[in-house]
Amino acid sequence: MTVFCIVLALCGLLCLAQSARARPKLGARADVQNSLNVSTCPGYKLGSLKQTVHGVTAQLHLAGSACNAFGEDIANLTLQVTYETETRLHVNIFDTAEQQFTLPPAFFDRPSPPSSTSPSVLNTSALQFNYISSPFAFWITRRSDPSAPPIFDTRVGSLPPTPIAPFLNASDNRTAFDGFNLVFEDQYLQLTSALPYDANIYGLGEVVSSSGFRRSVTQNGTLQTLWARDDADPLDENIYGSHSVYLEHRFDTASNKSQSHGVFLSNSAGSDIMLATPPSSNTSFIQYRLLGGTLDLYFFSGPDPNSVIEQYGQVVGLPAWQPSWGFGFHLCRWGYTNLSVVQEQVEKMREANIPLEVMWNDIDLYHSYRDFTSDPGSFPGDEMRAFIRDLASKGQHYIPILDAATGHTANATDIYDPFTRGTDLDVFLKNPDNSTYIGQVWPGYTVFPDWFAPNAEQWWTEALTNWSTGGVEFSGLWLDMNEISSFCLGSCGTAPGADLSNTSVPVTLPGDPDSLVVDYPEGYNSTISGTSGNITVNGTLTYGAGANATNVGGLAKRSILFKRGLGAAEESDVNLNAPPYAIHNGFGALAEHTLATNATHHGGYVELDTHNFYGYMEERATNLALRQIHPGQRPFLISRSTFPGTGKWSGHWLGDNTSKWSYLLYSISGVLQFQLFQIPMVGADTCGFMDNTDEELCNRWMQLAAFTPFYRNHNQRGALSQEPYRWDSVANASRTAIAVRYSMLPYWYTLFANASTLGTPPVRALFFEFPDEPELFSVDRQFMIGSAILVTPVLTPNVSTVDGLFPGRGAVTWRDWYTHEAINSTSSGAVSLSAPLGHIPVHIRSGSAILLHSKPGYTTSESAQSPYSLLVSLSQDGSAFGTAYLDDGTTLPTDDTPVKNSTLQFHAAGKSVSIAKRGDYNAPQDLAQVTVLGVAERPTRVTVGGKSVARQDWVYTAAVQRLQLSGLAVSLNEGGTISWR
Ligand SMILES: *[C@@H]1O[C@H](CO)[C@@H](O)[C@H](O)[C@H]1NC(C)=O
Ligand SMILES: *[C@@H]1O[C@H](CO)[C@@H](O)[C@H](O)[C@H]1NC(C)=O
Ligand SMILES: *[C@@H]1O[C@H](CO)[C@@H](O)[C@H](O)[C@H]1NC(C)=O
Repeated sequence: MTVFCIVLALCGLLCLAQSARARPKLGARADVQNSLNVSTCPGYKLGSLKQTVHGVTAQLHLAGSACNAFGEDIANLTLQVTYETETRLHVNIFDTAEQQFTLPPAFFDRPSPPSSTSPSVLNTSALQFNYISSPFAFWITRRSDPSAPPIFDTRVGSLPPTPIAPFLNASDNRTAFDGFNLVFEDQYLQLTSALPYDANIYGLGEVVSSSGFRRSVTQNGTLQTLWARDDADPLDENIYGSHSVYLEHRFDTASNKSQSHGVFLSNSAGSDIMLATPPSSNTSFIQYRLLGGTLDLYFFSGPDPNSVIEQYGQVVGLPAWQPSWGFGFHLCRWGYTNLSVVQEQVEKMREANIPLEVMWNDIDLYHSYRDFTSDPGSFPGDEMRAFIRDLASKGQHYIPILDAATGHTANATDIYDPFTRGTDLDVFLKNPDNSTYIGQVWPGYTVFPDWFAPNAEQWWTEALTNWSTGGVEFSGLWLDMNEISSFCLGSCGTAPGADLSNTSVPVTLPGDPDSLVVDYPEGYNSTISGTSGNITVNGTLTYGAGANATNVGGLAKRSILFKRGLGAAEESDVNLNAPPYAIHNGFGALAEHTLATNATHHGGYVELDTHNFYGYMEERATNLALRQIHPGQRPFLISRSTFPGTGKWSGHWLGDNTSKWSYLLYSISGVLQFQLFQIPMVGADTCGFMDNTDEELCNRWMQLAAFTPFYRNHNQRGALSQEPYRWDSVANASRTAIAVRYSMLPYWYTLFANASTLGTPPVRALFFEFPDEPELFSVDRQFMIGSAILVTPVLTPNVSTVDGLFPGRGAVTWRDWYTHEAINSTSSGAVSLSAPLGHIPVHIRSGSAILLHSKPGYTTSESAQSPYSLLVSLSQDGSAFGTAYLDDGTTLPTDDTPVKNSTLQFHAAGKSVSIAKRGDYNAPQDLAQVTVLGVAERPTRVTVGGKSVARQDWVYTAAVQRLQLSGLAVSLNEGGTISWR
């Protein structure tokens, strides 16, 4: 037995350490018999089960004649079940011959399987694997309650084909469940699990979901397609990123307790994931339909939402350490046509005293829209250098855009070194015949970096270094168009007759005379209010007719997705390189607006298999390049296309949104979604990107986004200017919100340190913190920062109040950030809050203690030069707790050299607050102020470290139960105690 186990364990190691497989053959095969549904697929029979130290392995054999529904059935599969940790169970079903594509381990580090000598959790782990042999099906239960409905249950093979309410229209046959058996073909995999009726499901994306953060399972269900796609944030369609992970939250009405678990399918194939409930059924389902790869599943036991997300982070990698300046305010727009205009923004922001941390440029910067350039006429290199150094001298930073495609030279006299050098180093994607793949993006014809090419990282690092030394001394980079976007179909530049000398932009640009930007936010009437976007006249708000708060928030779903039919390979007009099952890609054909799926990478990988992680590969390469360009410093990256693991290399912005109130609302779900995806540095284009914004929307948005991790105002070419100084009311609102943000920087920084070390999400849905309160499960109009701060933004025009829920059922006291007044809420009902324009309600949870900068400055570094202030909100029993993580804010910790750091702990109990420090980093500032909320009686004596505080240095305000100490100089390095009697 022992010998046997070792052999098996070895095999397990070998199997997992193997390099990824490239597709053995390209194109469709004539011998594939497409049947029109999968209900005849026979499923699998399990045999040769072997118990191992850490789980089981078995063989699965096709249980009947192949159905060859959308490819060829694979006869023999291997099942490998590994109890990896107490909270993580890994179920991997792969083709025994190992011909299917899997993620290349050289680029993705997944946790190693436990070694044969490491302690087994087989009999103690929270989750258990159960199976039946024929037809093979499995289900996952909690060891603590094996008879409860399983958390995942594939025993649905016996169900007949089941119609479900159509997602799109009745003639789209692919939206019915037409079979439930396990299907494992070379070009089609299908796995179905039963869910509780109307389960609470979060995740699966990237998506701008009409149902919000909680996905729709009943009604019309959810059809989440995963195929990275450059489209401007359409509703309910596949967009830039591909994340096949979800969190399910289950509430037990008998015990009034909840438990969460997570399911991650590690697979990069284009897919449809369906959540639905058949008519009059009391069971809901999730069905995965994949265009290839293997069924590599991870289950996380939670049992609460934050721990599910942490456990997912342990598999895909924890988020990158962010430099502290990354939390400052960023300003960008497409349409800053020259350096003077950019300089003017920096000056105007300073004149208006609105903090500006990082100035950005879009593609206006480039010469001929080419990467790694700045236009010699409008952005000369030496002037760029002087401009950026001037910013740096004031503690400010500069970030340029970096497009994924590389311009192709027009002719022999056209000098563009990145292209020539890349050609010499052989780093560009190929056609199947080994010629260079040539598509079209902003610079006209382009080539595309192949991140699998051995020299790609070297070439990319060189090009970035040259760009920086040429004057564009960036602090970080903005990765765009990396889905990867291409404007023509296929390798158009390789086609006979392609005119490579044509370097004009192949599309019309917004703002051009034939493409004017004329739309405004809901409720704005430009015939009444004019075209300026102004809403205030002489200090009061004036509305055009139609400004009606109630009709905002519902953007029409696109009526219909483009479709190729069922079994597309049978159709005459279909590219043979397209797989037989047609996923619901919003653009229809897979190659539309991106590369052909037969584009070929080094090592024989094809775009079909790797498409969804093109962005990931670029993020990884760019992060590694920045480590060389700025040695020892934390790279700062914001990228559009993301994949599981991106958070390790980059942050994300929510893409090309629209200046609409509905998108202000969706931005909250977007930020929450990316907390689950372990890419916590995320935010939306503030004030909206497409269309014109207006004064009121921009005002509310500048305030909301100040409470999201990545805070950037970005605008489209040709739209009304929307820098925060453009309207007085927006300038005021921005100054107010940024001051709150900058005073909270030590808190944000602590939350991100917890994300980078533990995977804990910095921004949280309310139910993450209050998991047993079902009225919170759908809340996505409010959110929490960490466990201590609750934000209740206004999301509609023409209102001066907003309703919010205040969780805790009366056991928590919520105190207003600005006035410290307690909310009077003992029930689970909504509370109406005053929220005039320029005010965003923010509340502090009782029982928390957070470290703040006492004087928010113009930049994050200026803010950090002020002494600290401590805010303590006592719970009803007089206790509170909080921590603060401190380090230098820029040094990149590595496995070999952790950065010097310390963690402060604040404990309140029995009328005193104690401060303790652990770690070797010296707090750069003293503690000058302490505010304690919830002090019920006026103290007679206040002491710090046992010594009385002079009477003029403390104030008690009975109306809000507040004790405020100022003028202190408490060294946080020594710790101490503040008491009152
Ligand atoms: C599948 O496995 C069976 C039993 O081990 C074997 O006889 C058969 O040749 C295999 N089929 C393929 C296609 O590998
Ligand atoms: C698809 O559905 C339509 C309408 O229900 C039906 O007429 C058609 O036969 C179906 N097609 C297939 C291939 O099942
Ligand atoms: C479901 O789809 C139908 C048909 O498209 C539509 O009329 C209905 O409004 C949808 N229901 C919901 C709740 O979205």
